[in-house]
Amino acid sequence: MAPRKLRTPPYCAWYCFVSLVLAIVGAGLYKRDFAGGKQPDAHTHRNETRTAGRRLRAAFTTTTTPVDPDSIQVDDDDEPDRVCFPAVRHGGLRPERVGQIVDGTSFAAALTALARSREVRRVLELGTWYGGGSTQSLARGLMSAAPADNCIAKGNERCCRDLVVTVEVFEPAWLHARRYLHDLPVWCVRGSTVAPDEMLSLDEVPPSERGAHFNLYYERDLALMRKSKPQLRRLCAKVAFDLVLIDGNEYTGWGEFERVRDECRPRYVALHDTGTLKTAKVEAYLETHTDEYRLLLRKGETDASPACDLVGCLPEALFAPNEAGWAIYQRSDY
Ligand SMILES: C[S@@+](CC[C@H](N)C(=O)[O-])C[C@H]1O[C@@H](n2cnc3c(N)ncnc32)[C@H](O)[C@@H]1O
Repeated sequence: MAPRKLRTPPYCAWYCFVSLVLAIVGAGLYKRDFAGGKQPDAHTHRNETRTAGRRLRAAFTTTTTPVDPDSIQVDDDDEPDRVCFPAVRHGGLRPERVGQIVDGTSFAAALTALARSREVRRVLELGTWYGGGSTQSLARGLMSAAPADNCIAKGNERCCRDLVVTVEVFEPAWLHARRYLHDLPVWCVRGSTVAPDEMLSLDEVPPSERGAHFNLYYERDLALMRKSKPQLRRLCAKVAFDLVLIDGNEYTGWGEFERVRDECRPRYVALHDTGTLKTAKVEAYLETHTDEYRLLLRKGETDASPACDLVGCLPEALFAPNEAGWAIYQRSDY
């Protein structure tokens, strides 16, 4: 019997073709990186090293499309009722959970319950930190009520109907949060909520408030804000938010509130760290403007308030202990 013909020639042709393509591409890259065949000098080397670091970080944190933290892809013609944003490449790794408003606390319970109600579909959070606190509580609430096809993948983007959009100015926290939250309906936006001139000026920070927090964060955050684009106005111009949580900078609470009230006009406004400089002016304003917003629920009244159903009308003592105050307001014309 004649031996079966070996199928070497087609394999060889394919192999040679691939090798040729790789050689051409490789030569092109080499030429681009080290034009003229010169070794990079020390300066170029430093830049290359930095670029490599940036590429490596980008590979871990983004899709193949570089993330533009300022891009807002809301009005996608194909997905008119979804908000599209850059998907996160996470490499199967999830960083550890880090958060301030943690499970078991009354505020986490109230936020999750509110996000579960069908009156809340889109949430804006000011101050993500590392994503394992309020962002996760809110996203879980939304997810438990949203349909299975709430989020879809579309090329390098993820598009969600119900979602949390959360803004963080400190890049290491933003990087951590977006990886930690990659599979929840959450768009982590890097940037500042408001502009530096909307932060309390030094004169507006009373001497009694110039302690350790002030020394650590006032100048640091002001410097970060100067390097960042304000996001609050742009986001509210694009997305109709039902709930806004103000939990960002100690010194921007009032500036944020003014924009939220006038431009975002959400049905609900949630405040964290009540009784501090962050919300003092906001609370004073709301107390005398009940025609605009009325109190729905606050810490210490979860067993007695008319809206106590949200958290099972349990008293504060039955929740996990937490120092921080909080309150949720509802727009009076609802
Ligand atoms: C109190 S923490 C948020 C805690 C978070 N909600 C949680 O439950 O874990 C406040 C965050 O706001 C961020 N921040 C400060 N100034 C900001 C600004 N102008 N814009 C956006 N984020 C800001 C801080 O970097 C910090 O991560």
